Amino acid sequence: MDIGIYIVSKKIVILGSTGSVGTQCLEIIRNFPDDFSVLGLSAGKNFKLLKEQVQEFSPKYFFIENYDQNIEEAKKISLEEMVTLEDVDLVVMALSGSIGLVPVHEAVNSGKTIILANKESMVMAGKMLVEKAKLTGATILPVDSEPSAIWQCMMGERKNISKLILTASGGSLRNYSINELKNISPELVLKHPTWNMGAKITVDSATLLNKAFEVIESSNLFSVPLNNIDVLIHPESIVHSLVEFIDGNLKALLSIPDMRFPIQYAMFFPDRKANVELPECNLAELGSLNFSPVIPGKYPLFDMAMSIAQNNNSLMSVLVGADEAVVDLFINGKIKFLDMNYLIEKTIQSHQSIKNPSLEDIKNASEWGFNNVHQLIDI
Ligand SMILES: NC(=O)c1ccc[n+]([C@@H]2O[C@H](COP(=O)([O-])OP(=O)(O)OC[C@H]3O[C@@H](n4cnc5c(N)ncnc54)[C@H](OP(=O)(O)O)[C@@H]3O)[C@@H](O)[C@H]2O)c1
Repeated sequence: MDIGIYIVSKKIVILGSTGSVGTQCLEIIRNFPDDFSVLGLSAGKNFKLLKEQVQEFSPKYFFIENYDQNIEEAKKISLEEMVTLEDVDLVVMALSGSIGLVPVHEAVNSGKTIILANKESMVMAGKMLVEKAKLTGATILPVDSEPSAIWQCMMGERKNISKLILTASGGSLRNYSINELKNISPELVLKHPTWNMGAKITVDSATLLNKAFEVIESSNLFSVPLNNIDVLIHPESIVHSLVEFIDGNLKALLSIPDMRFPIQYAMFFPDRKANVELPECNLAELGSLNFSPVIPGKYPLFDMAMSIAQNNNSLMSVLVGADEAVVDLFINGKIKFLDMNYLIEKTIQSHQSIKNPSLEDIKNASEWGFNNVHQLIDI
């Protein structure tokens, strides 16, 4: 009898394969070609890169937003079809923004294992998605470095947790005064001091709205009340987050800031794999790590999101939609950095909120938020 070791590769689809998280996910697959087989890839506009990826990884399926573009080697299907393919083992949700909501919902509905980078879906509909996952058997594995750190620190320790502490680099503008922010350029905002990420999340890091999103995401994922989650500014981004237990002990997860760590962890979970491509964390070389509280009032969008998040209503989805609009307008030089606060606040104030919103209400609220910003500036 022939006895051998057979490696069963996981069949994976990546929504947003041309983005920052998506390309890093493919990099890990390049490092471990026997462990994964790519079944589907998708992009919004970057047809050239998607085509190259299809030629390299030979998926059966692809999706691109533009309906006229085709790739001979694979079949074009919708994002919803891609996440519900019967033989898919892992669904990577690396779309940026509210566009992720419906595919994440579909994947949860069909009981898939989801590697979730798209935090906006968790912010808008986290409670609904987690509840549904319990019914369908879907598993949501976080990829964001902070929720991933919390997840790893909580392993085997679901009880006796008193607090989660999320760290924040403070973004590209952490050392600027309000006065200096008035005329800050998109180029400067897009230069994140520690992480190399997509454009939207980099701007959201500068306003600290990204951190509010992570707090809400973590509250939903780990069932920890918002009041039991703190944020600490940690400029080096080495400690990714901490869990405090009732006996006063703290557990933290440390690594060099590189998204491949949390992505790889989720892709191999529950195993860990050595990867020589990933940087070593030499604490002696780093020397010191710094922490400070978030200064109240310094980040108006963070404060606004945290106060809205206390209620389960449609305002959070309005904020997500409005944020997408203002970030895009700012990056394209149509509004100034501080206009983002005003436009989001105005939009929130004029929305009639809906309590316990349905999926449709959430989608509509986010679209309403997006459109309202454009109406306010008449573009
Ligand atoms: N980047 C990070 O390090 C990081 C860290 C933690 C969490 N996250 C979260 O991960 C998510 C992705 O972030 P990212 O930085 O990777 O974003 P990104 O670089 O902007 O990539 C977004 C991906 O989504 C695709 N896409 C955009 N609009 C689409 C549409 N309408 N239909 C289909 N596909 C569309 C893009 O395609 P094109 O390339 O063709 O435009 C791209 O593949 C976000 O929710 C972010 O908050 C990111």
